[in-house]
Amino acid sequence: GKDGYRHFMEKELHEHPVAIGQTLQRIIDPVTRRIALPDMPFDASTLSRATITACGSAFYAGMVGRYWLEELARLPVDIDVASELRYRNPPQPDKGLALLISQSGETADTLGVLRELKTAGQSIVSILNVEHSTMGRESDLVLGMVAGPEISVASTKAFTAQLAVLAALTIDFARQRNLLDEKRERELTDNLLDLPSHAMEVLGLFDQIRTMARVIAQARDVLYLGRGICMPVAQEGALKLKEISYIHAEAYAAGELKHGPISLIDPSVPVVAIAPSTILFDKTLSNLQEARARGGRILVFTDEKGAERLKDIAEHMVILPDVSAFVAPILYTIPVQILAYEVALLKGTDVDQPRNLAKSVTVE
Ligand code: F6R
Repeated sequence: GKDGYRHFMEKELHEHPVAIGQTLQRIIDPVTRRIALPDMPFDASTLSRATITACGSAFYAGMVGRYWLEELARLPVDIDVASELRYRNPPQPDKGLALLISQSGETADTLGVLRELKTAGQSIVSILNVEHSTMGRESDLVLGMVAGPEISVASTKAFTAQLAVLAALTIDFARQRNLLDEKRERELTDNLLDLPSHAMEVLGLFDQIRTMARVIAQARDVLYLGRGICMPVAQEGALKLKEISYIHAEAYAAGELKHGPISLIDPSVPVVAIAPSTILFDKTLSNLQEARARGGRILVFTDEKGAERLKDIAEHMVILPDVSAFVAPILYTIPVQILAYEVALLKGTDVDQPRNLAKSVTVE
């Protein structure tokens, strides 16, 4: 049941801390507090490339995974949505790694890629919530997210659980590739372990997010901006808003704003920015100043430090706990999903069963 919540989506949003926590518990040795993943069907230290594929939200999780694996594990990553990768027929490295991400493990296109890449001799590692699914049975290795059942059609906690697995995988690969000293490894692992409590704090921000939602609910079009590792979070936010509130939203890499979408900016097109104060913050800030100068209404998810710099241009800010850039995409996903939920409530849509959508897309 819904445990007293109005919608499964609301319940599942509240399950982010548990989904992240349980997923990490499975992956992190409680005694050594080190990442302990099962043996892989390939040698991560000599791997030349990985191919990541998925659909929808799971694809955006994969995009975050690409940033992590390239930056920290120095592993080149090819990534595409499954419906494209499936027919692109890209050259595959000998015994390369194919990483598939799916909540249900039944998505037709993702399964199609799994079979293609298996035939092409790749090691198939799947990150799945439903481990006893078709993809689970056909994979060489399943890395389970432990998010629990997700009933709401729009994915929520599965996304942060997927990211938790990808983050742990990145630490594991980086260690095997001799790119992490013990201190840095512990730091990154501790960042992950602190996430459930930070996620709990974010669940206390519903009221503030609702204030922001009132602006969005009036709009016909919304622009979501993010940079680097937070760009896919902007994409996840825009997708969620479209799905459940039926408001048109587009996500852009903030640096792309001046290459086109800035022409859309006026007071009727709110701009939602995912802007933790990481190394790219100043660049995002200057993009937002450009949008503000053209009459854009600026709504921002940031931290205390970022808020100090944004206060003159932002109409609403939601201030999140200060976290490292490494885990920021996991934490920032939560309020972005809550925003979509709050807008949908204001619009009175069928939150758990949005029109035209199915939970599991088992046809192409
Ligand atoms: C978004 C959403 C969809 C799914 C996509 C993949 O809220 O729910 O975009 O993420 O259909 O589904 P799975 O993860 O089951 O392969």
